[in-house]
Formats: sequence, C-alpha cells, structure tokens
Amino acid sequence: MSIRTATLNGVATIEIARPEKKNALTQAMYRAMAEAIDAAVAEPAVRAILLTGQPGIFTSGNDIEDFMQRPPTAGESPAFVFMRALLGCDKPVVAAVTGAAIGIGTTMLLHCDFVYVSDEARLAMPFVGLGLVPEFGSSVVVPQLLGNARAAEKLLLGDPFTGADAVEAGIANAVLPAGEVMAHARRVAERFNALPPGAVRATKRLLRRTRSEAVLEAIAVEGGVFAERLRSPEAKEAFSAFFQKRKPDFSKF
Ligand code: COA
Repeated sequence: MSIRTATLNGVATIEIARPEKKNALTQAMYRAMAEAIDAAVAEPAVRAILLTGQPGIFTSGNDIEDFMQRPPTAGESPAFVFMRALLGCDKPVVAAVTGAAIGIGTTMLLHCDFVYVSDEARLAMPFVGLGLVPEFGSSVVVPQLLGNARAAEKLLLGDPFTGADAVEAGIANAVLPAGEVMAHARRVAERFNALPPGAVRATKRLLRRTRSEAVLEAIAVEGGVFAERLRSPEAKEAFSAFFQKRKPDFSKF
C-alpha cells in the first residue's frame, strides 16, 4: 500500500509513500486517502489531519499510466471521491509539502487549511502541456488568489512556482527548511488538541461556505471537460511522450 496512515496525539497522518514513482497517485491511493479522511472525521479523538509526502516529493500528481489505462469519468472516479472527502472535511487539514507538488498535488493544497512548504518545493499545474485542463476548482480559486495575470502563467503556461510564491499568493502559510516542515506542520495540527472541536468544525464550515458553492459548480464543469480532454489525441501524445522521455510534438494538431 502506498498510503500510510497513523494516528498520534490527536492527529491523523496521511502519508503518500510511493517514492519510486515520485508519489504519483493511483486510483487505489485516492481511495485509501478518501477512506483515511472519512475515518479521521468520524473519530472524535482526531482533532486534525496531517497530509504529507516523502522527502523531496509531495506528489507528482495523478499516475499518468493510470490516466492512459483507466481514464476517470467525472463524478465517480477515485480522484473525485478523494477530493469530495477533502472538500467536505470539517476538521482542519494541515499539509506538509516536503518537495515537488505537481498537478493534483498543487490542486489539493488549495483545499487544505494550512500549507507548510519546504524551501526545495516546486508547485506546478502543468495541465495544458498534458493536453488537459485545470481541475477541482482551480480554474476559480487560482485566479481569485493570484489575479488573472499570474493565474494565466500558472494555468495556461503551466509555469512552476516556488514555496515563497505560494506564500505570497496565499496558497501556503510559510516556507521552512526541508528538515523542519513536517515537525512544524505537526505542531500546528496538535494545537487543535487544546481548542474546542465543535467550534473549530463550525468555523471551518463557515469559512468554506461561500467558496464551496462556486467551487463545487466549477468542479462539475471542469470534470466534464477534463474527462473529454483525457481521451483527446493531444493528451495521448503528451502521455506517450512522458513515458518515452521525449518532448511532446503538438505541431500536428
Ligand atoms: N505518473 C506516473 N509515473 C510517474 C509520474 C506520474 N505522474 N511521475 C513520475 N513518474 C515515474 C517516472 O515515469 C519514472 O518511472 P521509471 O523509473 O519507471 O522510468 C519515476 O517515476 C521517476 O520519475 P523521473 O521523471 O525519472 O524523476 P525526476 O526526478 O527526473 O522528475 C518529476 C520528477 C516529478 C519532475 C517528473 O517525474 C515529472 O514531471 N512527472 C510528471 C508530473 C506531471 O506531469 N504530473 C501531472 C499529472 S496531471
């Protein structure tokens, strides 16, 4: 299993652990993460969730082999089940971004409550270069946070950005030395042990209320386009190029 879970001192940790594939997320891994979130929400002793990866890599995003073999359909795929669990989670979610966060790796951070990023981390949403489109509300949330001009760099060009850029954009709380990210994120998560859980959950629901409506609508629209794009010749060329370790050739489209 490439998702490890553990609960310690009121904090449920969900660790992405598939370093040999740069923590690329398979359908089974999305399912395991969704189940871990649901279990943490249901367990009264859990006061916060800590989401993390491996040293040097948070996640390289969706497993591209999975995209080719089992292209998700909007609404029912394990990635949707996971993101629905994350969006619906009313306990605080703290992300410790220990390295690169690509594709859904960045998108999921938009829906966490606290994000601590290592000074080596690079974030990127390179969907267009893969023949795809933004997902899970990022076409709404990224322009809201960054403004249209910088959103175009990230979403149309797929330009990577640093942890410091993510802090400036309001996506992340702080950049820390790589060796300190996890301990700092855990300390923040453990602060919820001293706070009244009912007030925390009600406040999180209030903070998310207006955003959720727009985001849920965007997720449905994006999901339909994303599913179509996954089957496009452009995406097929991009995925083949990735595994053949060559540059994609979009000149014929
Ligand atoms: N899906 C499937 N396999 C992936 C993957 C992904 N998203 N990301 C990495 N891998 C695999 C590689 O194919 C390689 O497998 P191999 O050893 O069998 O050849 C292995 O993980 C190591 O990746 P590699 O690219 O050699 O490592 P790197 O250190 O040079 O680069 C990344 C790391 C994360 C920058 C690079 O792997 C990458 O760009 N991955 C794709 C990211 C992406 O486009 N994600 C968006 C999906 S929407």
